[in-house]
Amino acid sequence: MSDRRQFITGAGLAAFTGLGALGVLYGAKRTWDPLPSVAAAGFTTIDVSAAEENVPYTEMWRGKPIFVLKRPKSEKPNDRDIVIDGERYMITVGLCTHLGCIPAYVGVEKKFKCACHGGEFDSAGMVVKSPPQRPLDIPPFRMDGKKLVLGEEGPEYKKLLADGLTAKV
Ligand code: FES
Repeated sequence: MSDRRQFITGAGLAAFTGLGALGVLYGAKRTWDPLPSVAAAGFTTIDVSAAEENVPYTEMWRGKPIFVLKRPKSEKPNDRDIVIDGERYMITVGLCTHLGCIPAYVGVEKKFKCACHGGEFDSAGMVVKSPPQRPLDIPPFRMDGKKLVLGEEGPEYKKLLADGLTAKV
């Protein structure tokens, strides 16, 4: 009987200790989780390693389309190119810098064309036909190996800003 009581007491203590440990883990998780303000800041990691030359695709960041284009080797390098693993990429917000329409890429011409008012950008995002007055904007990014973290301002992005090669979004 006394053995049984000891067993029951031991089991109760183990359960109590287990609950305490769960409470500690829950508290730790809450501490480690990003603050809601950080989560809402909208960091997005993109991997461009599957991109094909001259075939753009779209990612989303903070509700905006982001164009990713592995630049055609036939096109001249541009100071705005983001070089990842020796390849050159155009990575921009996919909104026309005139009034915000979404331009479409015409691969044979290597141009983004905006249907709203006829603006055009080359494969580096530079204006080749107005009314847009500035290139497609490059989102803030930080290099992370072969990936980009959008929403963070790494040294490469800060240099583009300092050199006046993109507007801040
Ligand atoms: Fe693109 Fe006007 S919104 S040309």
